[in-house]
Amino acid sequence: MRKYSIRKRVLVTGGAGFIGSHLCEKLLAAGNDVLCVDNFFTGTRDNIAHLLGEPHFELARHDVTFPLYVEVDEIYNLACPAAPVHYQYDPVQTTKTSVHGAINMLGLAKRVKAKILQASTSEVYGDPQVHPQREDYWGHVNPIGLRACYDEGKRCAETLFFDYHRQHRLRIKVARIFNTYGPRMHPNDGRVVSNFIVQALAGEPLTLYGKGAQTRSFCYVDDLVDALIRLMATPDGFTGPVNLGNPAEFTISDLAQLVIAATGSKSKVVFRPLPPDDPLQRKPDISLAEQHLSWRPRIPLDEGLRRTVAYFRGAEAAALPRVAAYA
Ligand SMILES: NC(=O)c1ccc[n+]([C@@H]2O[C@H](COP(=O)([O-])OP(=O)(O)OC[C@H]3O[C@@H](n4cnc5c(N)ncnc54)[C@H](O)[C@@H]3O)[C@@H](O)[C@H]2O)c1
Repeated sequence: MRKYSIRKRVLVTGGAGFIGSHLCEKLLAAGNDVLCVDNFFTGTRDNIAHLLGEPHFELARHDVTFPLYVEVDEIYNLACPAAPVHYQYDPVQTTKTSVHGAINMLGLAKRVKAKILQASTSEVYGDPQVHPQREDYWGHVNPIGLRACYDEGKRCAETLFFDYHRQHRLRIKVARIFNTYGPRMHPNDGRVVSNFIVQALAGEPLTLYGKGAQTRSFCYVDDLVDALIRLMATPDGFTGPVNLGNPAEFTISDLAQLVIAATGSKSKVVFRPLPPDDPLQRKPDISLAEQHLSWRPRIPLDEGLRRTVAYFRGAEAAALPRVAAYA
């Protein structure tokens, strides 16, 4: 007689992306059956190549804007380009990915009675007028700007999650993710950590905007993935939204010096005018996550940068040409 597995069947959409690939790894190591679904818009097989031979790992090329019929117990919905250069490449598709993608994954969760987690973002707060941002802040978003396809798409996805929860009693979790970095992030996605590392490794000057005094917080990917898994495991009564990020604040100048130290580069810094929409401060209030997930980020920035630089130095990073096509 067939022995039925007690393994959980977990779907990760966007599983071949930066955060998704680390999540797939961790879920597999914890003894789950993992189904990674991705359309490879910004993700790549390279990110999950080391998992392809694992008997409990499965990869499906699929676009979440179309319905998906699979039997699973839990869904992590991460599919969506995250960097401005990527999500502004085809803004209509970005909104579809967030909105149609959410509808399709929520429909799937409803049909198979799965628990479902949404990778939302700090961008739902827009250009915030309160610091640090708590989950009860409703945000300050321009609905018709260039970033709206991402910000409003993610906001609408949150709305859909809560309406499915209220209307269909779906078990939902909503994570508002703040700036995350680590190995497998895109080398030229225009974000500050990858920019600085690429510039430092090439011996080029690091570009700072304004005086470099604006502050940011950076969460190492292992910490973030740990939080997502803890969030999924919380009791059904806890839905979020919950901020996930690292509240330690660094100025952009501090970051530049840490990257120069981590790479051993002789690069200098150059200053350019501050773009008009550059926020002066971004910092999560993570009290809710501390309380409900018993979680705090553990990896300090210098250590996380050391690991990320090691990845960027490696052959894998050199063999990631796809992003240039969208830049
Ligand atoms: N990295 C961050 O700092 C950050 C911050 C806030 C929120 N997030 C969210 O976390 C999630 C993962 O982000 P990431 O940084 O790993 O980005 P990423 O671009 O590396 O990963 C996104 C993945 O989704 C896939 N994808 C895109 N559109 C798809 C579609 N229509 N169908 C199927 N797959 C599709 C891409 O190919 C890619 O593999 C995203 O939802 C993003 O909005 C990330």
